[in-house]
Amino acid sequence: MAKQFPSGFWWGASTSAHQVEGDNHNDWSQWEHKNAKILAAHGGDHPGAHGPDNYISGAAADHYHHYAADLEKAGDIGLNAYRLSIEWSRIEPHPGQFNQDAIEHYRRVIKAARRQGLEPFVCLWHWTLPLWLSKHGGWRRRSTIAVYGRFVKVVVEALGDDIKYWVTLNEPEVYAENVYQTGRWLEQRRNGFLYLWSLRNLATAHKRAYRIIKEASPGSWVGLAKHNIYFEPYSRAWVNRIAVWYSNRFWNLQFLSWTRRQSDFIGLNYYFHSRLNYWQSKNDNERVSDMGWELYPEGVYHLLRDLARKYRKPIIVLEHGLADREDRQRGWYIKETLKQVQRAMSAGADVRGYFHWSLLDNFEWDQGFWPRFGLIEVDYKTQKRTVRPSAKVLSDIIKKASAD
Ligand code: FCB
Repeated sequence: MAKQFPSGFWWGASTSAHQVEGDNHNDWSQWEHKNAKILAAHGGDHPGAHGPDNYISGAAADHYHHYAADLEKAGDIGLNAYRLSIEWSRIEPHPGQFNQDAIEHYRRVIKAARRQGLEPFVCLWHWTLPLWLSKHGGWRRRSTIAVYGRFVKVVVEALGDDIKYWVTLNEPEVYAENVYQTGRWLEQRRNGFLYLWSLRNLATAHKRAYRIIKEASPGSWVGLAKHNIYFEPYSRAWVNRIAVWYSNRFWNLQFLSWTRRQSDFIGLNYYFHSRLNYWQSKNDNERVSDMGWELYPEGVYHLLRDLARKYRKPIIVLEHGLADREDRQRGWYIKETLKQVQRAMSAGADVRGYFHWSLLDNFEWDQGFWPRFGLIEVDYKTQKRTVRPSAKVLSDIIKKASAD
């Protein structure tokens, strides 16, 4: 399968600050403390989902202190890229006051990545806000755009010389949906207006960040990480076809269309397939992850082709992965998905990289610690790392690709 991955293809793994670093104090950590008991009571079937501790990020994978060893492992796997996020609440603990030590920390992480031959892909916002900003209304406030711009400027001026690839925002629509539409996270609102308004604010914030980054370092590449779902109609009934057209238009393409002129590449996060029957998903679910998410490699092919046709820009898969504690399906899923990536490339999609979610087991938001997404397993009691066998599958694919 390797032939069609060009040299220079980015082979990466992704993380986000709040999910791996540990000891973060932001709006999420506050929400965790308030909600751990409720989340535990509704934890579902999984045995790991019942204790409140599962829902408190606490020390997480303590990547804040283990980053050097973790990145060494990433290098050993054969990766040449690492996606991380910068924790805003560390950099700007009080409005307008920037913490030099926190900036230096990320400088060291980026240097450590480079030492391992890993190109850093730096995400500037992966869902968490400093407490002072969330108290002020976060993304439902127009004024947050300027505050974000100020943060971006500080980071880019401090670290930009050593970074080429920037991801301004992670999955803005997943965030807005869960915070303002379904009311599951953080502010837990159910308000269609706030949902759309916060999305518009996020789009404007992206554009502003794009301008700021390009002014500071014109050679950089700036994009965002977009969560797209492969929708198909369950049957040819017209309702289903309309549902697919609408879902695709709105969920997959709207935000990208708002920001297309300020994106050097499209970042795609691929996890879901949805066969719509009267607006409900009715999937075969032949294979599912530990979280019950369907594993459907072919979906990425359709999404890549669609994005390529629509935007004619380079695309980087910035996330793809599954919760698989026993590591029974990860190797298969990576391999099959990469075949589909390759198929899309042969059909003309300009795909520049594949990042697996995640490098490490980590704290999965409102699900907590029990879902295991890592190429590297983390024992949270001892912080011991063990590289999972599926990492070898990815290693072999990478090796084969570079040998051709
Ligand atoms: C994505 C998020 C990421 C992680 C994976 C499983 O939607 O961007 O932080 O939680 O899902």
